[in-house]
Amino acid sequence: MPNKRVLSGMRPTGRLHLGHYFGALKNWVSIQEQYDCFYMVADWHALTSDYADTKELKNNSIDMVIDWLTVGINPEKSVIFKQSEVPEHSELFLILSMITPLGWLFRCPTYKEQLKEIQSKDLNNYGFLGYPVLQAADILLYKAQSVPVGEDQLAHLELTREIARRFNNFYGNVLLEPQALLTKSARVPGLDKRKMSKSYGNSILIAETEDEIVKKVKTMFTDPLRIKATDVGHPEGCVVFAFHEIFNKESENRKQQCMQGCIGCVACKKELIDMISEFTRPMMQKRKDIMSDKAAVEKVLEIGCQKAREAAHQTMVEIKKAIKL
Ligand code: TRP
Repeated sequence: MPNKRVLSGMRPTGRLHLGHYFGALKNWVSIQEQYDCFYMVADWHALTSDYADTKELKNNSIDMVIDWLTVGINPEKSVIFKQSEVPEHSELFLILSMITPLGWLFRCPTYKEQLKEIQSKDLNNYGFLGYPVLQAADILLYKAQSVPVGEDQLAHLELTREIARRFNNFYGNVLLEPQALLTKSARVPGLDKRKMSKSYGNSILIAETEDEIVKKVKTMFTDPLRIKATDVGHPEGCVVFAFHEIFNKESENRKQQCMQGCIGCVACKKELIDMISEFTRPMMQKRKDIMSDKAAVEKVLEIGCQKAREAAHQTMVEIKKAIKL
């Protein structure tokens, strides 16, 4: 029995941060052992909202792949590729767009939410509405059994399953309904307690310098009710504590100490700086090594795209035959 196949993707936003790592990448790395993984740079998806400014798109894609390699995505085990290098994604997207009812897309929670929330870009375009159809094409093209996603992507996966079902009803059993591989991920808050995000400017990079870590941890929000170190603290709402929960085996102790006023925020931050630095230091080194041979990174993508194209082509042949094109 061949391994089960997995496909997942990320939009290229440039260098990745701890939110990406603990929210998804850590899991991507570990599942490489049990699954045949396809990891995709979703650059066409980036275009659905960032079509007006594409000057960083190519660099962002490479930077993201470098970070994938840095954290341990292994090109010997997994296929690393870029969506726009595999034209079959657009071909299947077109076909699926014929059978996807508009109502499904207008009702999609991510669509409604982003249209309302994001004011800085005009999202009243056809491609943005079709975002989940393109994502369905990504997944169905590889007959992926499992898709590691965070909770925010569950609606897209459900839509993928519905589209697959509808296709199979019309044309016969060709496409596979994928399962979500829900990441037991830690939600990493940003420095300011909002979700960690590049656009909020509240993130810590996976390969961050020690100086930056010191600066950034110092700006982290702590318990506003605590004036003196001996005041009792409230770790539940504290960003520094949220990070201790991720990095510190002794986090339960720190929680008790904080609630009893036995450890101050400054000491807590100091310890955190050391722990984050310990995590990022080897990442920094690895990233530097990888950066020193950019041609090798390009080669990884080239080989990955080749493998992805072969797999995608096979499914496309079946699809066209089923539709009688
Ligand atoms: N929409 C995903 C995100 O924003 C990225 C993505 C594109 C994806 N295609 C995919 C994720 C296919 C999983 C499978 O995170």
